[in-house]
Formats: sequence, C-alpha cells, structure tokens
Amino acid sequence: MNTKYTGQSASRVDGPLKVTGKAKYAAEFAADGLLYGYVLNSNIASGEILSIDTTAAMGIKGVISVFTHENVEDLTWFNIKYKDMDSTAGTPFRPLGSNKILFSMQPIGLVVAESFEIARLAASLIEISYKEYPHVTNLQGELDHSKEAPMGKIGYVQPKSRGNAEKAYRKAEYKIQGEYVHAAEHHNPLEMLATTAIWEEEGKITLYDKTQGVSNVQMYISNVFGLKMENVRVVSPFVGGAFGIGLRPKYNVFLATLASLELRRNIRLVLTRQQMFSFGHRPGSVQRIAMSADLNGKLTSIQHAAFGETSTYEDYTEIVANWSGTMYNCENVKLKYELVKLNVATPTDMRAPGAVTSAHAFESAIDEMAYAIKMDPLEFRRINYAEEDQVEKKPYSSKELRACYDQGAAKFGWENRPLEPQSMREGNQLVGWGMANGAWDALMMPAKAQAILSADGKLILSSGTSDIGTGTYTIMTQIGAETLGLGLDDVTFQLGDTHMPMAPLEGGSWTAASVGSAVKAVCEEVKTKLFEMASKLKDTPFKRAKIKDFAVDHGHISLLSNPSARLSIVDVMRLSGVNSILETAMSGPDPKAKKTHSFNSHAAVFAEVKVDADLGTVVVTRVVCAVAAGKILNPKTAGSQILGSVVWGISKALEEESVLDNEFGRFMNHSLAEYHVAVNKDINEIDVIFVEEHDDLVNPLGIKGVGEIGIVAVAPAIANAVFHATGVRVRNLPITMDKVL
Ligand code: MOS
Repeated sequence: MNTKYTGQSASRVDGPLKVTGKAKYAAEFAADGLLYGYVLNSNIASGEILSIDTTAAMGIKGVISVFTHENVEDLTWFNIKYKDMDSTAGTPFRPLGSNKILFSMQPIGLVVAESFEIARLAASLIEISYKEYPHVTNLQGELDHSKEAPMGKIGYVQPKSRGNAEKAYRKAEYKIQGEYVHAAEHHNPLEMLATTAIWEEEGKITLYDKTQGVSNVQMYISNVFGLKMENVRVVSPFVGGAFGIGLRPKYNVFLATLASLELRRNIRLVLTRQQMFSFGHRPGSVQRIAMSADLNGKLTSIQHAAFGETSTYEDYTEIVANWSGTMYNCENVKLKYELVKLNVATPTDMRAPGAVTSAHAFESAIDEMAYAIKMDPLEFRRINYAEEDQVEKKPYSSKELRACYDQGAAKFGWENRPLEPQSMREGNQLVGWGMANGAWDALMMPAKAQAILSADGKLILSSGTSDIGTGTYTIMTQIGAETLGLGLDDVTFQLGDTHMPMAPLEGGSWTAASVGSAVKAVCEEVKTKLFEMASKLKDTPFKRAKIKDFAVDHGHISLLSNPSARLSIVDVMRLSGVNSILETAMSGPDPKAKKTHSFNSHAAVFAEVKVDADLGTVVVTRVVCAVAAGKILNPKTAGSQILGSVVWGISKALEEESVLDNEFGRFMNHSLAEYHVAVNKDINEIDVIFVEEHDDLVNPLGIKGVGEIGIVAVAPAIANAVFHATGVRVRNLPITMDKVL
C-alpha cells in the first residue's frame, strides 16, 4: 500500500495556527522601538499640490517625521529601471515622486510617529493647497476616446478575429445585441495591506509584507531603492486573503521602506479599510455584443467589443473579449478590446481578471441568443460546443465541460425547467433557473523548491511561494509526504521568505501546478538519494538494487519485487552514516506541450433565484458549480476554493459596486458599510462538483488549479436566472431591486 495523499481530503495543516491566533500576519511582527506610519491621501483626482504645510503636525508630541514630495526629492529611489512581476505598459506610479496628483486618494504624505493614533491625528493637521485640473472618471462617458490596448502585461494577448462576422450578422434571421456594464469593484480581504519594516543596518532591511509574492517585493524594493537584492529580505508566512491586491507591490511597502531607511528605525504601516479603495481595483467595463444563430441553434456570428478603464499613467490590460473566440464553434468572430484612460489609480488583477468580466456579458448574450430561437440555453451550448480551441486551432489537453453540463444539470434538476420566463412561482416569489459556463487558463510557471530530510525521518520542504488562504501549505505537504512515503505529520512545508528558493507570484491559479511540481521534483531527488544509499548497504536485500526497483511507503523503503524486504528511512540514513539529505530542484512548463495543445479549466454553473414580485429583491437560493480542473489534489481545500468563488460570484452579481462620484472623481463608498459584500444571510445552498478529468499533458501532476475557475460563470448564471424568473434582462451589474422592477 502506498502512503497516498493526493486526491484525498486533508484538513489545513496551518489550521490550528490560524484558529489559535499563532499565525502571524505582516502587521503582527514585533520589533524594538517600533514606529507607526499613517498615510495622507489626496482629496482631488487631478492637479498639483501648491503647498503642503506640516508645521502643526510636526508640533504634536510623538511625531517623528512627515514625508512628502518636498522632502524626499533628493533620495535616489526610482532612479533604477522599475520592474515588477505583474507590471503593465506605462510609467509606474511613484509615491511622493512629485507634486502631481493623478488620482483621488493618491498617497501624498506619510506621518511617522510613536503610535498609530498620534500619526493619524498629526496627518489630520496637515494643510494642503491644490491647483485642480479637470478630471475624467466616467468610463461610459469616455468611450469615444478608447484606444486599442497595448501589449506589456504578462500573459496579455490581443484578441483575434476570424471570418466576416458583420456580414454573417446582417444575413442572419435570428440575432441579438446588447450592451453590458459592470462597475469597478474593490478587493476586500480581511487583512489590510500592511508592512512591518525592520532596519537591519545601513542599506539592509527586512520587510514583513502582505504580498502574494515575496520575490516580487524584493525585486521591486531593491530596484527602486538601489539596494542589493541580498540586503532586502521579504517575509510573508500568512496572508489574510488577497485576491490579486497583493500581486503588485503597493505603496505601503514603498513608504515603510523609505521611512525605515531614512530614519534608521523599525516601522509599521497598515492601510485603513478606506485606503484599501485607493490603489487598484477590478476595472469597470462596457461590453457590446452582437450574435446570430440559425434555427438549428448553430452560432453564425459573434461580435464582442470590450472597453475597460485604465489610469492616465499605465495601461492595465486583461483578457476579456478573447474568451468569446474560444468558447464555442463559430466561423465568424470579430473581437475588440480597448482601454479608456481615466483619472483613477491603475486597475489591478482581481480574481479571474478578464474572464469574469467577459463571462458576465458573453454568457448572458448566449442566453439571450438561445431565447431568440426559443431553445433551452444548455442545449444551445451543447450544439455549439467547441472540441478544440477555436482561436489557436489546437486540441485541449483535456476538456470535460460536457461532464460538467451532465453532472451539474442532473444535480440541479435542470431537465424539469420550463423554457418560458415567469413560469415558476411560489406565492409571491418568482422562481428562475439560469446557467452559464466559463473557462480559465491552466498555467504553470518555473519554480524552485528545497527539501531537507533529517536523520529522524522528518522532512522540511520550502519554496518562496505564498498561501493566500488557498491551501498551499496543505497540498505541498501532501505532495511531499506522498512522494517520499512519509506521514503528513512528518512533513513541514515552509513558504513566504526570500531566503527560500524562488517561486512565482501566487496568482493565475498556477501555484498548485508550479510549486507542486517543484516540490514533487525535489522529493524525487531525495528519494533517489535514499535508494542509492540503500543499494550500497551491506547485508541487506537492497544490495545492488537499481533505483527503479525501489518503492517507499509509511516511512520505509522496500523492493517492488519483494515488498517484505523493508527498512525504515531512519535506518537507511543511520546505517549509511548520513545526518541529513538536502536537495533543491526546479521545474517549469514543457514548451513542447504548449505548441500542440491549449490548456484550460472549465466550469458550468447552475443557479436558482427567487425574486420578490413586489419588491424586486433577489435571493440566490441554490447554486451548483461543476468544475473540470484536472486532478484535484485535496477535495476539501479545493472545494472551499470553489465555495468561496461562488459566494463572491453571488456578491458580484447582486451587491458589489464601487461607485464613482464623477464630480469629485472619487470612489465614494470606500468602506464595508457602503461597499456591500455578500454575508451569511445572502448565502444558501451551494453544491460543488469536481468531474473526473485526466490530463497527462498539462503538467506531471495532472492538475489545473482551482483558485479562479469557480467564480467565472456565477454572475451570468444568476443574471440568466433573474431573466427566467422575471422576464427582465438586467445587463448592468450588480442586479439591484431598482433594475429588476
Ligand atoms: Mo489572482 S487575481 O491571479 O491573485
């Protein structure tokens, strides 16, 4: 019997630390003589600072320093070419870099004091006079000024058109068109952006930072401040949710580093909940879709023009319209993606960036198309099912979306669904059923891992990756324990430190595949070392055995041909006189596989809503989310990923909206009192199904990652269910009662 863990549910290995409060987050690390920072933000969206008077602030007892653009000009930072692992085309924002104001709530000062309260009080006493320029923040009002998105962001590719969609649309008998809008949304993890900066010595610093990539922060800080890489240590063992806000280094880590280096002191800087709305959001979008089909339900044309917002100083791009070219069989496809520059902070990735945006519009339009020809929307999707990637003309390494349809529909009871809207009613509640599907990339990045097996049979694995609550600690422990035939308790996985081997950013749903493959590879190397040692032992059945003849399980090695010939790993090391085995290994994607295949995960979402006929309030009463994402390493943690995704999808469909006040150019609902998210009361039954999907090509582990696929199709499934319940097609998210009635 093998010590088999992957594919089995395991509780989080870091769970006890988290629930007992022992897990330390960025703002919880203690330091001698710690000072506290408070950031001052701009009141205007565009213009310049004429004067900034810090006299009163400096007069408060306990205030150590106030940093503004006026007193940091002579610093050398940002002289070196800026780069971060998630940067995008344009000129990155330089906090306190000049008196120019590029967006509302821009950081314009940092007060450092002996306590957070003193710093905050002092910041309120700073007097600023501005020269205001006109600003534009209204995406829908600026569509005439859109421009094709430039390349520049990792992974971004321009959407490709094919055939002649306009002609096919003109000739078609059955056609639909619509404009779909969703507002900007902000990340609201429990843990705020925070940094504790420890001044080690001249030119040397340790940063406890809330980040999805310690190496990324290290690269950014060392480049920007001109420090040696090895003199910048970044540590982040626990992250209280991130969802993309921790991908690019944020101004908290910049300002904390600046102040720490200047004052030669230890500094803690935590952003407030309000400030979480100041620097990065899912961009609002406007999408125009036209589509045609014949009476047999075959799509004859697709046109999808997507407009996203970006800042005046960078071009944030995401994959939006591209998905409309790959999802279904259709010969005539015209796609466009353009950006509108606004006086806002550069948008940033938020869970399933681009795909969520696209699916909201496109999967609603698919539903509209099905209704135009009076066909069941699931049947319509089956008829137009794409076996191959329609853009790249390549087969998928695996695509079990049909199984998602079958199992999801069966669990939901879709076959009993009457086609007509407003045909199901329970008292005063209009009941509706809707569905949608979605895809996400199954990516893999180069990653390194280290393993140390000690004489007591304990294994310590490490890689500089992150666990943003996703279960990285747990699945890496499972992979390590299984590969070396150890118990889960014998294995410790460590992460989140630039002293560890380098890992990619924790994003794009690629961590399980990327870091998991490196962990597997390094454990294979340790195993080989063990087998080599065993084959050299005298007076054992292993003498001169070949590597391929060995097996491991339950802390023992054995021979495949003679399972009763067993020796514990502890004994192998003891008899060989070896105290520990240390190995490092690197893994990365197979470039050959990419040439021949496309790699996507898929999901089908079925949703039931009940809409109050008088009030227009919408409750999502049931969701079934069926996911095809290759092998599932840990159904428990993976299932939680999908549950969380569905919750957020419900929140997106019905609640989340960052409302821009265009007069002030500011997001006005910048608190959890006014930026609504789904709470317990909003969530009812959610079923997660993982369908069987075997994939030898995607990576050696056969896994695709589950961090993002779960959210992609939730909002359109709900919008389609609202239509089925009410006959009202709401094309503008969130679906609030005023839009339904
Ligand atoms: Mo995810 S938006 O790649 O953290």
